[in-house]
Amino acid sequence: MDVEAQKRAAAACALAFVRPGMRLGLGTGTTARYFVELLADHVRAGLNIIAVPTSEATRKQAESLGIALATLDEMPELDLTVDGADEIAPDLTLIKGGGGALLREKIVAAASARMVVIADESKWVEALGRFPLPVEIVQFGATVTQRAIERVAAAAGCPGPAPLRRTQSGHAFVTDGGHWLADAQLRRIADPPALAAQLSAIPGVVEHGLFIGLAQTAIIGGPAGVRIVERP
Ligand code: A5P
Repeated sequence: MDVEAQKRAAAACALAFVRPGMRLGLGTGTTARYFVELLADHVRAGLNIIAVPTSEATRKQAESLGIALATLDEMPELDLTVDGADEIAPDLTLIKGGGGALLREKIVAAASARMVVIADESKWVEALGRFPLPVEIVQFGATVTQRAIERVAAAAGCPGPAPLRRTQSGHAFVTDGGHWLADAQLRRIADPPALAAQLSAIPGVVEHGLFIGLAQTAIIGGPAGVRIVERP
């Protein structure tokens, strides 16, 4: 299986967790996109679910495929969220936000009784940090916030720059919430909970892409098939 087939296989496997009547959170990214596509096939075949999307991109996709949607305010308790990840550690701690949607993704995951993460094998890592950690920051005083992120990262033993994410045209990438993203290049995060606490304490940080204690199940698509990992 190539990488796209691995993502699709993981997404297809996640459908087994969906039950009629469920309130679902729909993730963002290329892997979550497969899940939404496959879920829509089941909806067309009569499956009754209602979903909260984690981004404008997912909202548009789900809407165009005829999936019934609600806002998180209308439906504040969800049964299941299915979402992708940029890195998955063996304890199911995640790095998310490569697609820029980490803030809504974390809010939706935290409002869900269960989070299932779907990914291809390349996302499985022994320790988090090779993928730059996305940190959503307010635009005001962004330079000050970036410096604070770099200081906190250095103190946590993973020094590195935290440049602003830019679009191809060179403009700062703006999230669905109207914020910017700093991508912290940390290489190896020795203690994700400690770093997460330090990042959250920086005034200009809105949210960071470390998802700790949120995912209960990971479905990993590999060259030879799909494996399911439960949080230890
Ligand atoms: C979106 O903001 C991210 O958290 C995605 O879930 C993550 O980047 C994984 O995306 P892919 O499935 O496209 O790799």
